[in-house]
Amino acid sequence: MESSRVTRRSFLGASGAVLAASALPRGAFSPLQPGAEADCIAISSANGIGAVATARAAVMERKLRPVSAAVLGVAEVEADPNDTSVGYGGLPNEDGIVQLDAACMDGPRHNAGAVASLEGYMHPAQVAERVMDRTDHVLLVGPGAKRFAHEQGFREENLLTEASHKAWREWQATRKEDDRLWPLNGADPDAPWTLGETRPWGTIHCSVLAPNGDLGCCTTTSGLAWKIPGRVGDSPLIGCGLYCDNGVGSAGATGRGEAAILTGGSWLVVERMRAGDDPVEACLHALRRVAEQTLRASSWQPALWAKDKPAFGLTFYAVRKDGLYGSATMVGRRGSGKFAVANARGARLEESAILYELPA
Ligand code: GLY
Repeated sequence: MESSRVTRRSFLGASGAVLAASALPRGAFSPLQPGAEADCIAISSANGIGAVATARAAVMERKLRPVSAAVLGVAEVEADPNDTSVGYGGLPNEDGIVQLDAACMDGPRHNAGAVASLEGYMHPAQVAERVMDRTDHVLLVGPGAKRFAHEQGFREENLLTEASHKAWREWQATRKEDDRLWPLNGADPDAPWTLGETRPWGTIHCSVLAPNGDLGCCTTTSGLAWKIPGRVGDSPLIGCGLYCDNGVGSAGATGRGEAAILTGGSWLVVERMRAGDDPVEACLHALRRVAEQTLRASSWQPALWAKDKPAFGLTFYAVRKDGLYGSATMVGRRGSGKFAVANARGARLEESAILYELPA
């Protein structure tokens, strides 16, 4: 592992609000360093350990472009009934209907495609790739996205599993009359809170760097569980749930989509890398911006720490064009935040840096 370019002192000094910072892990491979052997690097959220291996193999063996490799990698997670945050088996909206969001972005052509609130199609990332490749548009939503998926020959199917339907029925039975204002699962924001009690968010983001320096990425999700029908998160919004610039790097987000939207989070991460930040530093910068801009008490958790710190989960992932990569998460216990990476050394989970570290 390469030593950190972000010292604890500079990190604390810049944030002005940090309670603790974990070690700042990042990858060491740099295809642009003299003498270094070119490699493909795929990174993703922790649910993508298989996805990064698939994406890397797609680039190295099948010579797929990075964006298509990312879309192929996440397809496994979209089809996994046990991942309740993505695709088939994803937790539904208030009405018990699964609505999926996804986007992909291609570095070399600086183009993107996205679908939002798509019903009945298991692989929204693949539909997004068709939007990118076969139309002059970027984002299709709802019935229009569904019609396009049908026209493109995708198979319509029921995305609700027995388990996700049961979870929805249980939520229905206990739901509060109006929990739409609170991100913390409708809980009284002043009540004590422990990690893991929030209304579930999920998602997979995957960014891929090819040996020739080309970049591509993809983010796909079923979004916030029990969301208001039509709610769209950050995942299909370019610059929010993902962004890539072929001259700089690629980034994405998982977690509370509203926070990534309000900050333009993934765009900010890439811009920080353009300004010289390494990926972990860039992710932490975006998280600090989110924290600074979290001004509503409904998003604070006074029981945990100083009054105005965000209580929600949000994680950024980034790979820079020179092969450095990393991730940082808003809040957690040391060792709890992980991301997946695949390179010549294989596929594995590595630790995300933590902006607000909880006591062990
Ligand atoms: N980050 C996924 C969502 O908020 O929908």
